Amino acid sequence: MIAAINEAVDFIRKHYEHKPAVGIVLGSGMGSFTDEIRIEKEIPYSDIPHFPVSTVAGHKGKLVFGEVGGKKVVCMAGRFHYYEGYTAQQVVFPIRVMKFLGIETLLLSNAAGGVNPAFQVGDMMIITDHISQLIPNPLIGKNEQELGPRFPDMSEPYSKKLIARAKQIAAEKGIALREGVYVAVTGPTFETTAEYKMIHVMGGDVVGMSTVQEVIAAVHMGLPAFATSVVTDLGLRPEGMPPVTHEEVLHAAKTAEPKFKALFCELIAQL
Ligand code: HPA
Repeated sequence: MIAAINEAVDFIRKHYEHKPAVGIVLGSGMGSFTDEIRIEKEIPYSDIPHFPVSTVAGHKGKLVFGEVGGKKVVCMAGRFHYYEGYTAQQVVFPIRVMKFLGIETLLLSNAAGGVNPAFQVGDMMIITDHISQLIPNPLIGKNEQELGPRFPDMSEPYSKKLIARAKQIAAEKGIALREGVYVAVTGPTFETTAEYKMIHVMGGDVVGMSTVQEVIAAVHMGLPAFATSVVTDLGLRPEGMPPVTHEEVLHAAKTAEPKFKALFCELIAQL
């Protein structure tokens, strides 16, 4: 595992000489964040040794290197989801590679379903905590001591410092922000009504199919993480409302894009 990470890192360093300070993972519908990057280099995932290989025809993903707000960043344009058939370890491989490339902060984003009755489609939520028990943990298996401890502490999975900074930026810029708990599920089915209710009762504000395995891998390595969700649909909808569709999710994510870009750009500039 460590050898595979090092081989990926060596390959990337041959093509891009700078050390990125920030790693960014873009969620569904948020791919145009790369417009905010002064791009220096792009490397397709398919070129990088040991990166998960996409089985989906036409699926393209790449690492984008460049600058945002005077900071060197590496951005994953396209992430790996457990529901695509990758193992939890494959899903988090790029996070480990970015850490070995030198990132000191990890910023993630996703589209999620709202189960907090106060939430509306298009809301942006800072993830303050998560519930990971419905998905496989990426740290299951032999522990790589070089990455982190066998039993990592999870009392602050999302950096309180970064959350405070983001809230201050949002207040200054007049960006409305929610805060709450993200419940991770495997997907690819959206939830049944009973499942959305369970997720609400168990303490969730939103539910989604990404992010949490990546954050667990980051915390394992002592890498501070910050994540936001865009609420793209409401799980607990009144009787008779039409069901959630992927198109609806992508459309709603797009409407929140300006808020998301403004917050992430300023957060990166202030790191
Ligand atoms: N459930 C799970 N994942 C999601 C949802 C949802 O309702 N919306 C966007 N991603």
